Amino acid sequence: MSDQGASATPTRILSGIQPSGPLHLGNYFGMIRPALALQTGRQSFYFVADLHALTTVRASADLRRWSRGVVLDLLAAGLDPARAVLFRQSDVAEVTALAWVLSAVTPLGLLERAHAFKDKVARGLPASHGLFAYPVLMAADILLFDADLVPVGRDQMQHVEITRDIAVKLNEAYGPIFKLPRASILNEVAVVPGTDGQKMSKSYGNTIELGLTGPALRKRVMGIVTDSASVADPKDPAVSTIVALYRLVATESDVRRMEEEFRGGGTGYVKFKRRLIEALEAYFAPFRARRELLAREPGAIDRLLLDGAEQARAVAVQTMARVRLAVGID
Ligand code: TRP
Repeated sequence: MSDQGASATPTRILSGIQPSGPLHLGNYFGMIRPALALQTGRQSFYFVADLHALTTVRASADLRRWSRGVVLDLLAAGLDPARAVLFRQSDVAEVTALAWVLSAVTPLGLLERAHAFKDKVARGLPASHGLFAYPVLMAADILLFDADLVPVGRDQMQHVEITRDIAVKLNEAYGPIFKLPRASILNEVAVVPGTDGQKMSKSYGNTIELGLTGPALRKRVMGIVTDSASVADPKDPAVSTIVALYRLVATESDVRRMEEEFRGGGTGYVKFKRRLIEALEAYFAPFRARRELLAREPGAIDRLLLDGAEQARAVAVQTMARVRLAVGID
């Protein structure tokens, strides 16, 4: 369904992840994997959105550790630096320079309508200017790289729409500067339930962190909330968090077997949870091995990020030159 199949310019993809905590299964299946499946040639940009995380993370040591963690997770999940550009948002100063220019034309009302801001404030986060201006910074990320396609989870859809609105504002004020990006909404697998059955999310405290193993993994999985059905009772696999997670990591035939045993009764939730633990351990074993190897080479990661920042900046500088000229600060 490419709308530019005949065009010579390949689609440019860009996506970012906030290092606001350790990543979890929801991030992995909802965002990382589908986004990385799109990496092609030199036209894919993935970055650690550490400037965005500053709106919520207050401990520098946490931010540093989580930023590094996201880099390792992305690489272990299959981001290939030979096919994609990986960088840290804060290494590209043009992002904040562009954000200011965008701010100057962004109507307040556009930001006041943002669900993410309202949700965060409702959850008790201080309503800082940065939190409010979050979508403008995100628009800068996207427009700076002339991204065509922005793979994001459903919750980020509105931010991409705001980006388009801001791009239109700029184009109206100054002539055509930006093309309008599209969100590529990552498919239904995106809804990964957390241990309480709600969408898995750091803010609900229901996550299973990526790469968990052994007792830590057992503790999280055993904590999955189930109904009060007894061992003998037939159970409905369609509404089970255990089955939903199992589907992500088990073979089709194993899933079918679990579904049948749910319906048949005679098997308790603890047994199903044990099977889920085994499947998670097996599925993520290669991921964990790759991640451990990478973590042993911090210097190599530093060089990779430097290289990524350089490639990203090469694009960013060009866009900013165009913007500066258009608005009169060249
Ligand atoms: N706001 C996104 C999230 O929380 C992260 C992000 C920042 C992003 N800048 C971006 C995603 C640009 C896509 C494109 O998930």
